[in-house]
Amino acid sequence: MTTHIFPDGFLWGAATASYQIEGAWEADGKGESIWDRFSHTPGKVQDGDTGDVACDHYHRYAEDVALMRGLGLKAYRFSISWPRVIPDGKGAVNEAGLDFYDRLVDALVEAGITPYVTLYHWDLPQALQDAGGWCSREVVGHFARYADVVSKRLGDRVKFWATHNEPWVVAKLGHYIGVHAPGITDLSACYQVAHHVLLSHGEAVPVLRANAGGAQVGIVLNLSPVDPASASPANQTAARRHDGYLNRWYLDALFKGTYPDDMSAILDEIGVAVPVQAGDMAKISAPIDFLGVNYYTRDVVCDDPDGAFPFTSPGPRENAEFTEMGWEVYPEGLYRLLKCVHQDYSPAALYVTENGAAIADAPTGDAVHDPRRIAYLRAHFKAIHRAIGEGVPLKGYFVWSLLDNFEWAFGYSKRFGIVYVDYEDGQRRIPKDSAHFYREVIADNGLSD
Ligand code: FCB
Repeated sequence: MTTHIFPDGFLWGAATASYQIEGAWEADGKGESIWDRFSHTPGKVQDGDTGDVACDHYHRYAEDVALMRGLGLKAYRFSISWPRVIPDGKGAVNEAGLDFYDRLVDALVEAGITPYVTLYHWDLPQALQDAGGWCSREVVGHFARYADVVSKRLGDRVKFWATHNEPWVVAKLGHYIGVHAPGITDLSACYQVAHHVLLSHGEAVPVLRANAGGAQVGIVLNLSPVDPASASPANQTAARRHDGYLNRWYLDALFKGTYPDDMSAILDEIGVAVPVQAGDMAKISAPIDFLGVNYYTRDVVCDDPDGAFPFTSPGPRENAEFTEMGWEVYPEGLYRLLKCVHQDYSPAALYVTENGAAIADAPTGDAVHDPRRIAYLRAHFKAIHRAIGEGVPLKGYFVWSLLDNFEWAFGYSKRFGIVYVDYEDGQRRIPKDSAHFYREVIADNGLSD
C-alpha cells in the first residue's frame, strides 16, 4: 500500500549535464570548453579520463529519451553546452549546435517529458576563459546574449529555465581550490567569479522571460545544512561562518539583495574585494519563480583558525554511512534544508534539482543490483514528503543522475546513474534496480514504508 503519496502533478525527473554525458567534443562546429582543455591537461582528471566521448549522448539521445519514457519520467533536467551553440562564447552562432538541442527538446516533448534546461553547468567556452573567464565582468554580457540565443530557439517549448548550476562550486572548486576547470587557486578570483556568475543570472532572467512566454525562471544552488562538530562556542561560530560561505552568501544575494554582513566583514579583514557596482544587487535579487536545490549530504565542521578561509575543517562523524564520494548519507539534512530555506527565504517554488548516490555498481548479467542506492532514494523521498506535508512548496525532484557519467575530476570512477553505462561494451545502457524502483514510485506517485 502506498503510504507516502505526493501532490498531484509532482514533477519526478532525472538530471544530467552536457559535459558529463554528451561527448562529441568537437562535432559539428562545437568550440572548445574549459572542461575540454582541463581534462586534456595531464594530471587534472583521475586516470586521464576526458569527456571526449562520455556517454555519447549527442549521438544516442533518441535512445536515451526512449529510456526515460520507459521509466515514466515526467521531466528531464539537462544543460546546454555554451561552446556548442556559440563556439567562441560571443561571436557567431553555430546553428548545428542549436539544432541538436532542438531535436532533443522535440523528442522529449513527443515523449511527454517536460524539458528543464540549465544554461550553465560549467562548460565555459575556452575563448572566454582566455579573455579572463568569470573573473572578467565582460562575461556577464556574453552570458545574457547566450541566454537570448538559446531561449529564442527553444523558448516556445521549454518553460523551465535555470540560469546556473551551483555558483559556489564554480567559484570554489574552479577558482579557489582549483580541482575543477579552469584550475585557478586564488580566493580573490573566487569572489570575483561568484559575483559575476550571480550578476549574469540577474541579467539573464528578464531575457528568458521575454523569449519564453509563461516560463518559470530560476537558479540551482548546492546547499547543505552545516552542523558544528561539538557544542563549543568556537565550533558553533565556525558552523555559522561555514554556512555563510556555502549557503547564505548565495541565498542572501538572490533573495535579500545583500551579501551577509558577517561574511563581508571577514572578507574585508583578509583583503578580499568583491567587485560589486551600483545596481548589481538589485539585478541579482530580481524575483525568480523557483529555486533549485542540489542536496547530497550535510557538512560537519570544526573551527580551524590556522586553516584556509573559511577557517573550518571537517569534523568527525560517528555511525555514519558514506557513499563512494566519501559523502555521509544523511536524508534528515534534506528535510532540514528545505524547511530552513522555506522559512528564511520563502522562494515561490522549490525543486530538488539533484540528489543521488555514487555506489560501486557492477552488472550481474543483464541486471545491476544497487540496494544501497534504492535505500538512499527511499530515505530522501520520505524526507521530501515530510517537508511537503509541513508546507514547503516543493514541486519536483530530479535524481542525479539518469546515467553513469563523467564525474568531473573523478572521471568515470564514480557511478551516480540509475542506469548503468557500460563504456567498454558499446555504451550499453542497463537500467539498475534503482531505475525499476523509481519507475514504480513515479507510477504510484508515492511509495510505501
Ligand atoms: C554536483 C554537480 C553534478 C554532479 C554531482 C555529483 O555538484 O552539479 O554535475 O557532479 O554533483
